Amino acid sequence: MLGPVILAASRSDKMRRLVSAAPGTKQVVARFIAGETVGDVVPIVQELTDRGLEVTLDVVGEDITTVEQSYAARDAYLELIGRLKELGLGARAEMSVKLSMFGQSLENGHELALANVRPVVEAAAEIGTTVTLDAEDHTTLDSMFAIHEELRKDFPQTGCVIQAYLFRTEDDARRLAENGSRVRIVKGAYKEPASVAIQDKPEIDKAYVRIMKILMDGEGYPMIGSHDPRLISIGQELARRAGRKLDEYEFQMLYGIRSEEQNRLAAEGHRMRVYTAYGTDWYGYFMRRLAEKPANLLFFVRSILTK
Ligand code: FDA
Repeated sequence: MLGPVILAASRSDKMRRLVSAAPGTKQVVARFIAGETVGDVVPIVQELTDRGLEVTLDVVGEDITTVEQSYAARDAYLELIGRLKELGLGARAEMSVKLSMFGQSLENGHELALANVRPVVEAAAEIGTTVTLDAEDHTTLDSMFAIHEELRKDFPQTGCVIQAYLFRTEDDARRLAENGSRVRIVKGAYKEPASVAIQDKPEIDKAYVRIMKILMDGEGYPMIGSHDPRLISIGQELARRAGRKLDEYEFQMLYGIRSEEQNRLAAEGHRMRVYTAYGTDWYGYFMRRLAEKPANLLFFVRSILTK
């Protein structure tokens, strides 16, 4: 029951101010956010890749309100890609972006987000890596998929995310399961109405399995984004039945969650990518992590009370 309340709070400016100012917040945030600057995150990328893991980097931020902020988001990614190039980490680290951080919800937002994300995708391609477009709330998805399709004309390796809880997603998966297409499947992290999304958790898991099967049986490159042990083992079995080799799909998990399992999958020879978020605008991302697991909220509240 707490999840939807926390997700509603993730969109509240008042709560943002309260949570950001609370003593003890920083300590809990640090579990999920790998620092504030490129300088903070680079040693973490090095440590993860030394452990045999791959990385996808997210400069946190979403729902910006000015065009200048959208340019700043683009520039933050370009700075990051510049650092990865200097360090020769391009082959192991890709980027994840939220189009709402690139101006998608502003006036002419679709065009603005496309114009901002294109140079990031180009710069990523120059260092031998790629970009995945994260999936945000359902009202943004038609624009996200159209931008994805546009970018793929020049950069076919550009990835996108689909969310198992949405009724539309099986159709999206069929459309996307084509040659060279990189698709991350996740359960879905936003508060969505019953008119567009499954509300029952076991039913979301069943949809996730059906969608994984579509992706594994298709021609694209499935990226299984989940910490759920049952779904991970079903994913392994579906890949085996589809005759996929270990480098023809990958697993992805979030930084700070189930690290031992990340190591285990990598040691078994799986490609295991850690979604590593950093930056100062961490509020929305952090609140979704609290909503996913009530124990995180308890830990958070306890750390505030003991400060
Ligand atoms: P589930 O929530 O059932 O968790 C399974 C187990 O994992 C839990 O029992 C717990 O042990 C552990 N766990 C999960 N979340 C935890 C947390 N926050 N803290 C501590 N333990 C936790 N969503 C979206 O809408 N758009 C997107 O673009 C993305 N991108 C994305 C990338 C990657 C790499 C991942 C792994 C996830 C996303 N998500 C996302 C988030 C996703 O939609 C979903 O909310 C979370 O992955 C949680 O769902 P699980 O599949 O892990 O299962």
